[in-house]
Formats: sequence, C-alpha cells, structure tokens
Amino acid sequence: MRTPIIAGNWKMNKNIKESLELVNGIKENNLAKDVEKVICVPFTDLKDVKAAIKDTDIKLGAQNMHFEESGAYTGEISPLMLKEIGVDYVIIGHSERRQYFNETDETVNKKMKTAIKHSIKPILCVGETLEQRESNKEKEIVKTQIEGAFKDIKVEDVENVVVAYEPIWAIGTGKTASSNDAEDMISFIRETLNSLYGDVSENIRIQYGGSVKPANVKELMAKKEIDGALVGGASLKAGDFTKLVNF
Ligand code: PGA
Repeated sequence: MRTPIIAGNWKMNKNIKESLELVNGIKENNLAKDVEKVICVPFTDLKDVKAAIKDTDIKLGAQNMHFEESGAYTGEISPLMLKEIGVDYVIIGHSERRQYFNETDETVNKKMKTAIKHSIKPILCVGETLEQRESNKEKEIVKTQIEGAFKDIKVEDVENVVVAYEPIWAIGTGKTASSNDAEDMISFIRETLNSLYGDVSENIRIQYGGSVKPANVKELMAKKEIDGALVGGASLKAGDFTKLVNF
C-alpha cells in the first residue's frame, strides 16, 4: 500500500510573515491523517515554518539544493544546511529549474544522489513540453529523464524517492492533463522504474502535478497509479490546500 502524498510547492511566494499566516491557517483545519502532507517553501521561510509545524504531522520540503556539501558556489544552498533545519523533502529537477536555471538530467542525478546520501527525500520532477507531446515524443522524453535521474542509484534507496509527473504545458496554465492521460504516463513511469528496479517499483510513489485544484483532485486521486499531487497555485491558500489533502 502506497501512502498518498500531497505536496504544496509554494515556488517564489510568501515572505516569513505570510508563510506563518498560511501555515497557521492550515493548522487550524482538520487534515486527513492517512495522507502524507508536505509543504515546500522558499529557503528563507524554512526555519520559521519548521518551528510552526513542529507539533503537527506536516513535513517540510525545500524547492532545490546544490549537489555539493560546501564550497565556492555563491548563492547556493547545500544539503547539510537543509539537514540542519530539519528538512524532510527536496524538490529536484522542477521544470522551472530545468528551463530557467539550466538543470540537466546530469545535475538532477547528482542532486538525487546527494539528497539520498543525507536522508533528504527527493521529489523528482519529470515531464514533457507541449511540443514534445504533440510530436508523440512524451514517453521517450520522460523515460530519458527517469533513467538519467536514477542513474547509479541503488535499489535499496529508491523507495524514499517520490516521482512527480508534471507535463510542462499543464503547469500554472489551468490546463490539467486528463486523469486518463496522467494515469497512462504514470503507469509508464512505473514500468520504466520496474525495468530498473523490479518489484520495488510498486512501492515508489508517483504524483501528478500541473493545475491540480480542489475541483479536480478527487478524479485524479481515484486513479490506481496516481499516488498524490504536487501542487503550485492551489497550495497557497489554506482552505484549498486542506481540500486537496482531504480529497
Ligand atoms: P501548478 O504548479 O499547480 O500551479 O500548476 C505545479 C508545479 O509546478 O509543481
């Protein structure tokens, strides 16, 4: 049985004061106990949000991380720094980072290895562009991203990885992949993981992401292979985030 996992990706939103308002709003609500809840907040909010969620079962996530532990990497944040704060998860290879910050399957793979080494659970993002889907290349693209990200990662480490399938054309656009298309790709991702790791792939959680909102979360979560959602816009309101968790 895979525990459902709903993760909010706040992206570059919410200063410290606003982040605490949002977290306190979420805490006032009744959140399903049998669903894992993660909030991935900006670096500058991590410490305060960690303190605010300490008596709850909400997990803390970062949105990125460098693959080295320390050194001359101006402006970067290391896994050790995240560990010190008590971060549980880190988003790796979000399409916005691939698109605007030149992340490649190779850097994604290095970050996956570092995160695993430091027991920070990766939320690995993969997904195709509209152009790639329209030319029927989406599976080939996602397969390459999965194989690249998991290169040299050992079978005993993969159960802690969460994969998020996020078709780029559905992110922040209001266009959601149909639940059938999402299920189809997520089944394909599990098959790809199965060819790499065998039966352990059955334990890896795979989320869908891209314009998930209270109105469509139930239909998506009803699909057998969809284990959760990675949510941007709709995670910025306490009421909506609660509805997502309580799908
Ligand atoms: P969205 O973002 O829910 O606003 O489409 C999802 C994501 O980028 O993780």
